Amino acid sequence: MTNPSRSKSWQKLSTHSQELRGKPVTIASLFVADPARFERFSTRVGEVFLDYSKNLLTGETRSLLLALAEEAGLREAIAAMFRGDVINRTEGRPALHVALRTPLPNASLKVGDEVQNTLNKMEAFVGRVHRGDWTGCTGLPIRTVINIGIGGSDLGPAMVAEALRYWHVEQLSVHFVSNVDPVHMRETLANADPQTTLFVIASKTFTTLETLQNASLARRWFLDNGGDLAQVAQHFVAVTANVPKAEAFGINADNIFPMWDWVGGRYSLWSAIGLPVALAVGMPKFRELLHGARLMDEHFRDTPFERNIPVLMGLLAVWYSSFGGASSQAILPYSQSLNLFPAFLQQLEMESLGKSVAIDGSPVSGVTGPVVWGSAGTNGQHSFHQLLHQGTHLIPADFIGIVNSQHTADSDQHSHLLANCFSQSQALMQGKSEEEAYRELINQGRDEVTARALAKHKVIAGNKPSNTLMLQQLSAQNLGSLIAIYEHKVYVESVMWHINAFDQWGVELGKQLGEKLYGALTATTPCSAFDGSTNGLINHCRK
Ligand code: F6P
Repeated sequence: MTNPSRSKSWQKLSTHSQELRGKPVTIASLFVADPARFERFSTRVGEVFLDYSKNLLTGETRSLLLALAEEAGLREAIAAMFRGDVINRTEGRPALHVALRTPLPNASLKVGDEVQNTLNKMEAFVGRVHRGDWTGCTGLPIRTVINIGIGGSDLGPAMVAEALRYWHVEQLSVHFVSNVDPVHMRETLANADPQTTLFVIASKTFTTLETLQNASLARRWFLDNGGDLAQVAQHFVAVTANVPKAEAFGINADNIFPMWDWVGGRYSLWSAIGLPVALAVGMPKFRELLHGARLMDEHFRDTPFERNIPVLMGLLAVWYSSFGGASSQAILPYSQSLNLFPAFLQQLEMESLGKSVAIDGSPVSGVTGPVVWGSAGTNGQHSFHQLLHQGTHLIPADFIGIVNSQHTADSDQHSHLLANCFSQSQALMQGKSEEEAYRELINQGRDEVTARALAKHKVIAGNKPSNTLMLQQLSAQNLGSLIAIYEHKVYVESVMWHINAFDQWGVELGKQLGEKLYGALTATTPCSAFDGSTNGLINHCRK
């Protein structure tokens, strides 16, 4: 497939976006012109509903975007992923995260058995820990689980464990340590008992500096607090594709859960990387999560593009970035349980789409993935929403709402949450004119001169686009579907931008330089080997 940016559909979209900008078309006016807009620009699968009617797009825009998807070969690209083709070309391997939850038709891949065996192994292990059959060095059951990992070996499971906190088993508290800052580990250990703490070292490569440092610190703490080397195996298990390294650390081969090179770190929470989630909520809930993702896989694979949630969301993202000048995307879950979801999406989207070289090695012709940011509502309303409403940037927003709260007794308070969610997207779209602001001020008793002057500051331009994704409830199944939407959305974007969503070469340089700088920081002679600023900072710390 040639670069979609050179396709006819791309050209047509470019012309169309310029024409739209030349017309007085606003999102609000599109609703006036089409009373059925909500129905025509919304779609659902199972308990997940997408309203994309509050976007700066017409029926023609949608047709052109769908035509682009066809011309760009998205249909074949989706089939290629589900077939297990080598779509991660720079690393010469398939991207088979879907195989972790959806059996693939391609029997020759032989990943299905590995996936099932791993799930069974997880189930047996989780059962032992929950029943108290897996004991620590003094025969006491495990009470604390600390997952040590970073990036994909932390963000996904930490986000899911937080989102499903309502279902955590009582007997365990589950924590996540990722930062190489020793404060993170020390503060987590402060409340832990070495006799009843289990560490899960999660690292696909088992070479990641932060994880190895934290794992060593944890082992030191265990040994300093009554444990001995022979007992390390009772308190440390690993999830990794690098078995020899995990064994060298002191982990028993039986307690190493496999990872595979055909799963990217940021797509791996469905694998044994999800072990801390399974420990937190039990295996049935973990399987429910996988089932939700599977429903979305099937939807993505089989549903016509015009009703396909990840396809529509991916095309909209391309519309705003490539044709609308947007360089950031806000993620606004109106759910405290989803407060880590924006951070998870930052890795998923930005590590996947932060590329400037196309699949064929040529420089990309335009922009690629936007900056992704956000936080749980309603908190964001009292911090950064000001910029969304009155700032100068075009920032498409994804609102995520939950129809029914888990806390049924508090459904009235939950209605306040939903009202805020909907009022924010409404305000972003409608805005407030100077005349409306002026009238409001007059009605509040302000004199005419003050009202005229103040009204200018109260204008809200409106016409800011948003999607609203509604989950019927925050069940493990719906969470699985939600995460899979974004995984597939990212793939759609990568196909449109002709980039590889599954490599991350950009993170390597910092790691390489970090090694050298560590040497300089811990040396005894003044540092002069680097640029002036780096030398200066190192010498400043060593003074
Ligand atoms: O930050 C780069 C990265 O390679 C991520 O892609 C990955 O999720 C993370 O490091 C952790 O890697 P590992 O699981 O091998 O420790």
